[in-house]
Amino acid sequence: MNFNFSALLALFFYPYFYSIGNIGRGEEVYKQICFNCHGPNLGGGIGPSLIDSYWKHGDSPEAMLQSIAKGITGTEMIAYELAYPKDDLIAVRDFILSKQEGMRSVFRSVYPREFFEGRRLKPELFDSVESLSQSRLPENVYYMERSVDGVLRGKAKLHIKDPGDYQLITRPIGRTSIYINGQEMHYSDQKTDQKTHLNKKFKLTNGIHDLEILHEEKTTHSYRFYGYLQHIGGKRFPLNGKSLEGSAPKFIKATPQAIVIRKWIKDLPPRSLLCLLPNRVLIAYDPTNSQIVKVWSAAEINQTPSLPGRSQNPSELKGQLIPDQEKLVWKDADLEFLHYQTLGEQVQITSLVNGKQKTLSFIPKGTNSFSLTIQ
Ligand code: HEC
Repeated sequence: MNFNFSALLALFFYPYFYSIGNIGRGEEVYKQICFNCHGPNLGGGIGPSLIDSYWKHGDSPEAMLQSIAKGITGTEMIAYELAYPKDDLIAVRDFILSKQEGMRSVFRSVYPREFFEGRRLKPELFDSVESLSQSRLPENVYYMERSVDGVLRGKAKLHIKDPGDYQLITRPIGRTSIYINGQEMHYSDQKTDQKTHLNKKFKLTNGIHDLEILHEEKTTHSYRFYGYLQHIGGKRFPLNGKSLEGSAPKFIKATPQAIVIRKWIKDLPPRSLLCLLPNRVLIAYDPTNSQIVKVWSAAEINQTPSLPGRSQNPSELKGQLIPDQEKLVWKDADLEFLHYQTLGEQVQITSLVNGKQKTLSFIPKGTNSFSLTIQ
């Protein structure tokens, strides 16, 4: 057999490189200043991690340079163009780029379904029709909101550090084609014979590659695309994940209306209702046994983000603990929690107590107290 190895290589190696510059100089600059906030290994500190997949202000070479040169208004991240010449800023950006691994610069576009009916999903097809929407996904994994309906095209850069053999693994739901450096490496369609599916093994060099995921599922109610890139004998890189919207670093603060928050807070019973009154008094109430567990003044809640690969951190409650507030509202009662509601400044919690419906209200009092009424 006349086996042409170099033709095979030509088929599988299509690396795409940013022209990465003076990384050595970049590391020097990093160690002079950036490490103070972003950590010696870029893992974060006062500033965010610069190696995890979440990039709030964008991880394209241009967006990163913008963050570094112009700074981020209102944060400790100042404009470094005042301190360093442009070449140094580019060098430190390229040093950070060289530390990335996995999917980055993920964009998701949604297209109308009709156009793709009966046609195999390929990039050229998507190029020939208008998208319904396009978004950058700062989490750098694919996900779909429930309200989105259509055929998905995801484009990303794949940063590879360990060269070798790779394969794409997906759950056979709907139909999926995955392209790497312009070549279809994976194809599956739930409706067709598995024998027609494609699941190539391919080589990836150390560097940055182009990745496209083309995908359609029947319902959007619960989007179930699941897939990962497997380095054979090595790491796996998830292709899907969840949105951080609503759980991105964010404080929940008191408003002129009372609010009830249900978040996982360490050391509180898991079903606690966190009743935050307009005067910033927060009452943790456990409706399963009618216990006021703890009360704080000047309270707010820090919702921490959770990402695949990051720890699933509980949210954090900040405030001044008011001592000796623990109390059982109904002792030795047969108790069934029915519902809660907020009514202006108050929180009302309704339960069946010994078969009778009772509503207890938490009402703000002064700047750091509350009163409780039962009806
Ligand atoms: C005094 C602390 C501090 C120093 C020093 C610092 N940073 Fe930052 N940096 C931050 C903070 C805080 C943020 C997050 C701002 C925000 O809330 O979005 C940030 C954000 C960034 C981002 C954007 C991250 C994203 O998710 O989009 C980049 C890139 C960055 N810094 C690079 C650098 C580089 C390069 C240096 C050194 C030249 C540096 N930083 C020095 C505090 C710092």
